[in-house]
Amino acid sequence: MSNEYRKIVEKADWAVEASGLVKTFGDNHAVDGVDLQVPTGSIYGVLGPNGAGKTTTIRMLATLLRPDAGSAKIFGYDVAKDPQIVRQLIGVTGQYASVDEALSATENLVIFSRLLGLSRQESKRKAEELLEEFGLTEAAKRPLKNFSGGMRRRLDLAASLIAQPPLIFLDEPTTGLDPRTRNQMWDTIRRLVKSGSTVLLTTQYLQEADELADRIAVIDHGRVVAEGTVDELKGSIGTSSLHLSIQHTQDMQDARRIVEQVLKVQSAASPEGGKITAPMAHADRVTDLLIALREQGIQLAELSVQKPTLDEVFLTITGEGVKEDKQEKEGIA
Ligand SMILES: Nc1ncnc2c1ncn2[C@@H]1O[C@H](COP(=O)(O)OP(=O)(O)O)[C@@H](O)[C@H]1O
Ligand SMILES: [Mg+2]
Repeated sequence: MSNEYRKIVEKADWAVEASGLVKTFGDNHAVDGVDLQVPTGSIYGVLGPNGAGKTTTIRMLATLLRPDAGSAKIFGYDVAKDPQIVRQLIGVTGQYASVDEALSATENLVIFSRLLGLSRQESKRKAEELLEEFGLTEAAKRPLKNFSGGMRRRLDLAASLIAQPPLIFLDEPTTGLDPRTRNQMWDTIRRLVKSGSTVLLTTQYLQEADELADRIAVIDHGRVVAEGTVDELKGSIGTSSLHLSIQHTQDMQDARRIVEQVLKVQSAASPEGGKITAPMAHADRVTDLLIALREQGIQLAELSVQKPTLDEVFLTITGEGVKEDKQEKEGIA
């Protein structure tokens, strides 16, 4: 990071301070009053399903889209009043998607480096370093038009890292990547933050937010429905979490009814069937539950009490992911 950046960043507690952001497309409330506060130097996860409004939010923060209402500051600079300054402080993956198809990966990275004012030698060294880091060394000389989707994604991130901007927006950086490349990406993101950058990443992967993020905002239908550290979010659904597999899937509805009656909570059914999860405030209630299930003649295949996963937090908060449940819950609300 350059010294000029460093000075700006050192003065600001918040990399992002957004308040009441709204964006409507026709009658679609894509972003419906989003507040975000991202501490400088952290990894912040915006977690939500497809269509939740993640990309639209990022585009507004990155000055690529004008909000209909609300305001946002990046390291204290207003995105509407000082877009030029803001643009110098941020990197957005996706913005380099229009790299030159006929040129090789190395050539593309060298060109970006040169545009950012690095010398020819520095540019070459930087390009080699980044290609090595992203496992693209072997493909370095091939023209981009022969690259797979995963390779493009990695090159895209590599290009956005040349300048090492203080704030990096990563919009679903690992969606569609194989596990090995995903792990590489995670390492890179952690390294970026160690060297002083702030990262705001969006993800649909609960595990990814859990793994990487210091704080998380859960977003659904254009609204932040929960915010906090991973532990806080996990805590919000109880101290433990019940996992139940039943022998016969036809007992599913009865089993869920009993779970909900005994524990006095909402349960969730896994899509593959036969599995029920539910938050538990007191692990010892499991005895009452077992008795009730046996009285109804419901046979269990497996039962465990665990620390809640982020997945369950998400299910509990948004009601997403359990289709047959959704109408029921909306009816109650
Ligand atoms: N340029 C656009 N024009 C019209 N509708 C849009 C546009 N961009 C996004 N949307 C809609 O806004 C909603 C939120 O989209 P998006 O921000 O891309 O969600 P996410 O990134 O969380 O998947 C979706 O319903 C999407 O169809
Ligand atoms: Mg998106």
